[in-house]
Amino acid sequence: MADTEAVVLVGGKGTRLRPLTISAPKPMLPTAGLPFLTHLLSRIRAAGIRRVVLGTSFKAEVFEEHFGDGSDLDLDISYVVETEPLGTGGGIRNVLPELTASTVMVFNGDVLGGTDLREILALHRAKHADLTMHLVRVSDPRAFGCVTTDDDGRVQEFLEKTQDPPTDQINAGCYVFRRELIEQIPEGQPVSVERETFPQLLGEGRRVYGFVDSAYWRDMGTPEDFVRGSSDLVRGIAPSPALDGLAGEALVHEGAGVGAGAVLVGGTVVGRGAEIGAGARLDGAVVFDGARIEAGAAVERSIVGFGARIGHRALVRDGVIGDGAVIGARCELLRGARVWPGVEIPDGGIRYSTDM
Ligand code: GDD
Ligand code: MG
Repeated sequence: MADTEAVVLVGGKGTRLRPLTISAPKPMLPTAGLPFLTHLLSRIRAAGIRRVVLGTSFKAEVFEEHFGDGSDLDLDISYVVETEPLGTGGGIRNVLPELTASTVMVFNGDVLGGTDLREILALHRAKHADLTMHLVRVSDPRAFGCVTTDDDGRVQEFLEKTQDPPTDQINAGCYVFRRELIEQIPEGQPVSVERETFPQLLGEGRRVYGFVDSAYWRDMGTPEDFVRGSSDLVRGIAPSPALDGLAGEALVHEGAGVGAGAVLVGGTVVGRGAEIGAGARLDGAVVFDGARIEAGAAVERSIVGFGARIGHRALVRDGVIGDGAVIGARCELLRGARVWPGVEIPDGGIRYSTDM
């Protein structure tokens, strides 16, 4: 695949995953024990692509510190930093000087998927397309780019985040570009590929095709999706070439301790050096390195940040607990609660019920 290079957009601020994204950019959050981006990069490598350029902005340095020249993943990775975020289109245009191939595969950096990327490239070639986009069907398209196609799979309309979606077919965040199209994106200014470039290319009558499939797909941008995607990786529902065949109820990392009678189910992940107390119940929990869940506590469909502590018999359901935060004994945190890093909630300090 020497004529194809990859670009991964990782410059977003990850606001919907705050407070976890205060300390780490979204694509670097641990997912089934690896920085999320590792799963995507391994999939790119598995498709035979070696050269990858990361378009960074927010917390740019973290990526290079971790992935270096890419050789650990048998990739050749380079980095281009936007001092001011240039948006998705501006980000793609900005990395152009680093690209030499005639075909460029562009990825949103927060998508967990199972599609064989070679199939998308094959369709792009078969259709002699200028641009081919990966499309998937979802039950609620309003949070995505909505894309209509004709019987031949040619894209008719691209509507970013519309309240009145004409189809359930959405942009899956992976595109194959003919290099010339990227050259046409205006340089050095913010551009949205979804709101500007795509509608413009369609208006010019360019050959834009959609590749639709039903392989695993999830945008990891919200706490619900992050928890679900992580659980799916652990249970083997979401494939990743970076993991060899996980398929269990829980993944407990090196140096973690699990007390007697603790129950770990639903694709729970326990990070390195984390401690789970006796009789605790973790269902679909993502517990980062060094966190502590005390005896009898319950954590359901929630993320517990680095070094955070959940007290004795506390309950956290559908919550995000920031790094180093302390949730006191018997507290109840439900329905999308987010606790900022380092915040300490005293024992019994937040409850949804009156019985203690
Ligand atoms: N380099 C760079 N610069 N990257 C950026 C910037 C920027 O200014 N802004 C966002 N990104 C990166 C993010 O880091 C992320 O990996 C990707 O671009 C997409 O941004 P999100 O913020 O996650 O967008 P979204 O999820 O709301 O919507 C996008 O993805 C959907 C599929 O997951 C759109 O492309 C939708 O059309 C699409 O359906
Ligand atoms: Mg996203």
